Amino acid sequence: MRNKFFITTPIYYVNDIPHIGHAYTTVAADILARYNRLKGKKVFFLTGTDEHGQKVEKAAQEKNRSPKEHADLMVENYKTLWAKLDIKNDIFIRTTDTEHVRTVQSLLQKLWEKGEIEKRPYSGWYCIPDERFWTDKEVVNGNCPDCKRPVEHIAEENYFFLMSKYQERLLKYIDENPYYILPETRKNEVLGFLKKNRLGDLCISRPKHRLSWGIPLPFDDGFVTYVWFDALVNYYSATKYLANTPLSLAPEEDWWPPEHHLIGKDILITHAIYWSSMLMALELSLPQNIFAHGWWTVGGKKMSKSFSNVVDPNKLVDKYGVDTFRYFLFREVPFGLDGDFSDQAMIKRINTDLANDLGNLLNRTLVMIEKYFKGKIPQPPPYDINGSVDVLREIHLKNSVENIKGDFDDLMEKLSFGHGLDKIWDAINDANKLIEDEAPWNLWKTNNIDKLSSVLYTLAEALRIIALYLFPFMPSAAEKMWEQLNVEEKLTKINLDTGARWGRLKPGTTIKKGAALFPRIEKG
Ligand code: MSP
Repeated sequence: MRNKFFITTPIYYVNDIPHIGHAYTTVAADILARYNRLKGKKVFFLTGTDEHGQKVEKAAQEKNRSPKEHADLMVENYKTLWAKLDIKNDIFIRTTDTEHVRTVQSLLQKLWEKGEIEKRPYSGWYCIPDERFWTDKEVVNGNCPDCKRPVEHIAEENYFFLMSKYQERLLKYIDENPYYILPETRKNEVLGFLKKNRLGDLCISRPKHRLSWGIPLPFDDGFVTYVWFDALVNYYSATKYLANTPLSLAPEEDWWPPEHHLIGKDILITHAIYWSSMLMALELSLPQNIFAHGWWTVGGKKMSKSFSNVVDPNKLVDKYGVDTFRYFLFREVPFGLDGDFSDQAMIKRINTDLANDLGNLLNRTLVMIEKYFKGKIPQPPPYDINGSVDVLREIHLKNSVENIKGDFDDLMEKLSFGHGLDKIWDAINDANKLIEDEAPWNLWKTNNIDKLSSVLYTLAEALRIIALYLFPFMPSAAEKMWEQLNVEEKLTKINLDTGARWGRLKPGTTIKKGAALFPRIEKG
């Protein structure tokens, strides 16, 4: 199916409450989902929770709950936050869903029957927080090389997915498909890893006596499935959830594979190597792209309970509003790089870009339409440089708004959200410049009504189109902009390309000026 767009976020562990890092990936996916819906694509946006494994079992024990009770409670934290952040996912998958459990077992059975899984004795160092084994060489002074916490020595029989035989195929695939892993630095990291290390086989089971909270292996009920194997399969099993929904497809069409797996840089190897080789073994197509974004630090430090610096998105939204939060995440730091969060940086963005540049522009334009045209959008003279009105500057703004399109699509395809926003801000700055240069209050004083109509119509129409481009990033602010301009169409129903055509704003429409979109924040 050519016109489909399937995007995923990682599924989040239910042992902890969501923080800014979880919100980051989910908002990024929501931006892309909304953008692609605007482009007229059929979109499937998937997110959910990772509920099995030792980490969750342990967290539940600490609270004296069963793992399922614990998961049922914790999952609400994610669902409420996503609603608060205006996330419009199509499916929320939980790895405890019967449908998912069935898919994991059927894929395991398939691999077992194909001879892709073997039983062997195994000993190694296990890191509970990371849910993975490390070799003697990898362990650093008894600690996990990744999270630096102590590892446990474990010797037992287990089932292994024969991942090692995919090393060459993976190398070739990643090398030949330059967009498979992005950004480029991350691709090189994976290639480097595959070139330097001999890929081992992947232990995909845990004996039940050690871990009971997992999906039983279909061919040996003494074992449960390794949580990462179970979790990665969510992307595929979710496509089976769509039957009898508005997203169900014709029999010859398939949602698989996804256009993007969005993940954080720490889970690149599990996706680029484990998941890709699992798919190869299952003879399923690989995703079009795996994009690994950077990490947020706070005050230059890794977020951690021990530093008491974990940023709760709920609090930020209550304090600053949802649109400003979404905007900040993607304007402040290029997607793919690490970034540092601080209230000061956020307040600066809100006051400068949102309150000053955009909020004031809308407010001033609407105030002037109220004052000079009794609240009705004026009929402008034609954009004709040889006409009776000098419309050169209006044409400049019109061009600047129309120019967003050329680069914007390309930037959104590349997930360059920050640059996409820069393009929109170029137009916003040009609109503010038009007000400064033409000083409409002087045109009113000199009774130059044709010119005043030209300037104010151009500003209002620029704002209508700007709101359309902003909608994926700041859905509710964009909707409010359309409400205040009293645009009849709905942002959730419109197509970006037709909607962005200049001149759709109807002269004569009575505007509905409302409260300021982005009030200034006076102190932190
Ligand atoms: N359950 C696994 C993913 C399985 S996907 C098949 C998992 N869950 S997680 O809850 O620990 O993390 C989910 C995501 O949050 C990861 O992509 C991780 O990169 C991201 N982040 C965690 N802390 C982060 C920051 N400080 N900054 C940005 N993202 C971060 O891993």
